[in-house]
Amino acid sequence: MLILGIESSCDETGLALFNTAGKGRLLRHALHTQIALHQAYGGVVPELASRDHIRRVVPLLRKTLEDSGCDLAEVDAIAYTRGPGLAGALLVGAAFAEGLAFSLDVPLIPVHHLEGHLLSPLLSSNPPGFPFIALLVSGGHSQLMRVNGVGQYALLGETLDDAAGEAFDKTAALLGLPYPGGAALSALAERGQPGHIHFPRPMLRSNDLNFSFSGLKTAALLKVRALGDSAPLDDQTCADIARGFQDAVIDVLVEKSARAMKDCGLERLVVAGGVGANRELRRRFDLTAEAQNFTVFYPEPEFCTDNGAMIALAGALRFQAGFPAAPPGGGFSVKPRWPLEERLDG
Ligand code: KG4
Ligand code: ZN
Repeated sequence: MLILGIESSCDETGLALFNTAGKGRLLRHALHTQIALHQAYGGVVPELASRDHIRRVVPLLRKTLEDSGCDLAEVDAIAYTRGPGLAGALLVGAAFAEGLAFSLDVPLIPVHHLEGHLLSPLLSSNPPGFPFIALLVSGGHSQLMRVNGVGQYALLGETLDDAAGEAFDKTAALLGLPYPGGAALSALAERGQPGHIHFPRPMLRSNDLNFSFSGLKTAALLKVRALGDSAPLDDQTCADIARGFQDAVIDVLVEKSARAMKDCGLERLVVAGGVGANRELRRRFDLTAEAQNFTVFYPEPEFCTDNGAMIALAGALRFQAGFPAAPPGGGFSVKPRWPLEERLDG
C-alpha cells in the first residue's frame, strides 16, 4: 500500500510517501519550513502560516511524487495531521487531504501529531520494539508516555506550564538569538563553561513525572538582567548562561525519564520531538541508559522536528493495526487541542 502523509500543524509543510510492503519503507519526503517567514515577528504568526501552507502543499506533493517516481493514481490512502496545532494551519492540510482523497476515491487516515513524533524512531534502520517509554519534547509539548503499541498510549507526566522547546526559544530570545532559538542556544552552550552559572532544577524532587519550565525561563531573565545591568553581556557570559540553562533542562528531562524507566520496568526509551535533536541531551541520555541498563532510541535528526514522513508512517501503522480509516467525501474536522490519550478511537 502506498500512503501519502501530509503535515501542516504549525510552521512546516511536510509531504511524504510511505510504502507498507514488507517491513515498510519511506520512499521520499519533502519539507518546507516557514522559519524565515516568522523570524521577524519572534514567533509563529498563525495567519501567515496558513497562507504559506496553501502556497506550498501542491508543489511539495509534485516534488515528492516526482522524486519517488510514483504516480498520484498509485496512492492508496492519505494520512494527515488532524491535531493538535494551529486551527488554520491544520485546516489547510485537512482540506487538501479530504479533496485529494475524494478525487482519488481513497480512504483518509487522521493522525495525531504527537503520535507521529513518538513513532518517528520507527523510521530508522534500528527501530525500537513495543512497549517503550517515550519522552516527547517539542516546541509545544513535554510529555512522558508509556507506549504499549500503535494507538495504545498512557500519559505518565507532562509539563505544568511551558514546553521544554518553548523555554529554549524564550531563553534564546533573551540572549538575542533569532526564533526559534533552541538549536542556536544549544550551539552557544557548547562554548559555555559548565557550572559557571547555576539555574534551579524545577520539580526534580517532586514525587511525580511532571515538569515545569516557566520558572527556569524567569530565572534566565533575572540572570540576564543582573549580569547585563551595567554593561552589555559579553559572548562568554552569554555562552555560560546558555550552558547553565541547558544543563538544568537536561538534568530534569534525564532524571524524570530515568525514573519513568525504573517505575515501569521497561528496557526501551524513545526521545522524540525537536528538543530531542539536542546533542548534549543525547549524550547525557546515552550515559544514563548505559548506567541504568536500558536502550535509547532517537529519530534521525531530520525527523526530530515536524515532517510529513512521521505522519505517513503513523498513518500506515494505524491502518495496518486495523484502526478504521474514514471514507472520502465524509467531511472533516480538525482538533487544535487534542490530548493524545483520547486517541483511542479512529
Ligand atoms: O517538534 P518541533 O519541530 O515542533 C513542535 O511540534 O513543537 O520542535 C520545535 C522545537 C523548537 O522549540 C526548537 O527550538 C526546538 O524544538 N529545538 C531544539 C533543538 N532543535 C530544535 N531545542 C534544543 N536543542 C536543539 N538542538
Ligand atoms: Zn511537532
